[in-house]
Amino acid sequence: MRTVPASRYVDADFLALEQRRIFERSWLMVGRAAELKGPGDYLALKIGDVPVMVLRDQNGTLRAFRNHCRHRGTQLLDEGRGNVKAIRCPYHDWKYALDGRLRHVPGEELFEPLDKASLGLHPLRALEAIGLIWVNASPQGPDLWATSGAIFEEVAPYQLEEMTPVHEHWSTVPCNWKAVLDNATESYHLTRVHGMTVDKHVTTRPEFRTYGDHYRLTLPIADYPWRTWFDAATGRGGPYTPKQMAELHKYVLFPNFLMNVLPYHLTIFQVWPDGPDRCRFFYGFYERKGARGLEWLRVRATWLASRYILREDLAILLRFQDGVRAGRADHHRFHEDERALAHFHDALARWTDAEHE
Ligand code: FES
Ligand SMILES: [Fe+2]
Repeated sequence: MRTVPASRYVDADFLALEQRRIFERSWLMVGRAAELKGPGDYLALKIGDVPVMVLRDQNGTLRAFRNHCRHRGTQLLDEGRGNVKAIRCPYHDWKYALDGRLRHVPGEELFEPLDKASLGLHPLRALEAIGLIWVNASPQGPDLWATSGAIFEEVAPYQLEEMTPVHEHWSTVPCNWKAVLDNATESYHLTRVHGMTVDKHVTTRPEFRTYGDHYRLTLPIADYPWRTWFDAATGRGGPYTPKQMAELHKYVLFPNFLMNVLPYHLTIFQVWPDGPDRCRFFYGFYERKGARGLEWLRVRATWLASRYILREDLAILLRFQDGVRAGRADHHRFHEDERALAHFHDALARWTDAEHE
């Protein structure tokens, strides 16, 4: 698709369609496996309209359930992260084990006979891969490896599960969720928005490849003196090929996850819609566990630079959204350097057009 209707960035009905047909049916990255370490550690969030909980049960197995009570539907766990020994409903105190089984019903004898075995929490699909947790709010559709396995295999040499946070941050950005991803995957804006920063270091067009709805942009990192020596001093965890040391891979796992993969650091974006012209944005920057000396310094220098660049991006996104609101009847057309956006919007149209609900 070389053009898209501007209304896709401002229309509440279109967002409702995206939530129902894309978010409620896709494999979504919701956090790092290291955040849910032991039994009872949980993460609760809304996927579209579906309240979801992901947790480790008593055996350390990762599980996901719909986050609502089988008595009369009350939301069980507060959104966010925490630890529980069991899941207790705040309304009439039904109690569920960490594996979802209904364990206790106060005053059970005053119900008509209850088949407790069939009143466990509704299970959802959840899996760990590359150190991250992936959840699907729909029981239907392809499994995670069918959609993303090729990418997981490709990044396996980078051992992303060893990465540890330098900085993690949630913020609210006043623009449509798609605009953040669009902006992060096109190089057409570099000269004007990042004239003093990235533009100087990007000399060639990124290579583009697709994996179904997902895609990758590969950017060569411009050469400089001492490069080989510097790379060798800061690239633990390999061995990495010179090619791996000299390339940044930017993966977008449709719909809302992006990662920049390099041997010595990792960047993660999650973008969640919060109204048609607002989104919740997670930015995480990671280094390999145990970074010291030059590697430590290199990671921090890169992190500071990327924060600065991100600020340039967020400023322009705000102006983008303000303008689009005024020109909602227009169509946007994509440049060759915005070809990843064309691919993304094709996938988006396929999902939102799909009839089967
Ligand atoms: S709604 Fe949960 S116990 Fe009544
Ligand atoms: Fe940018």
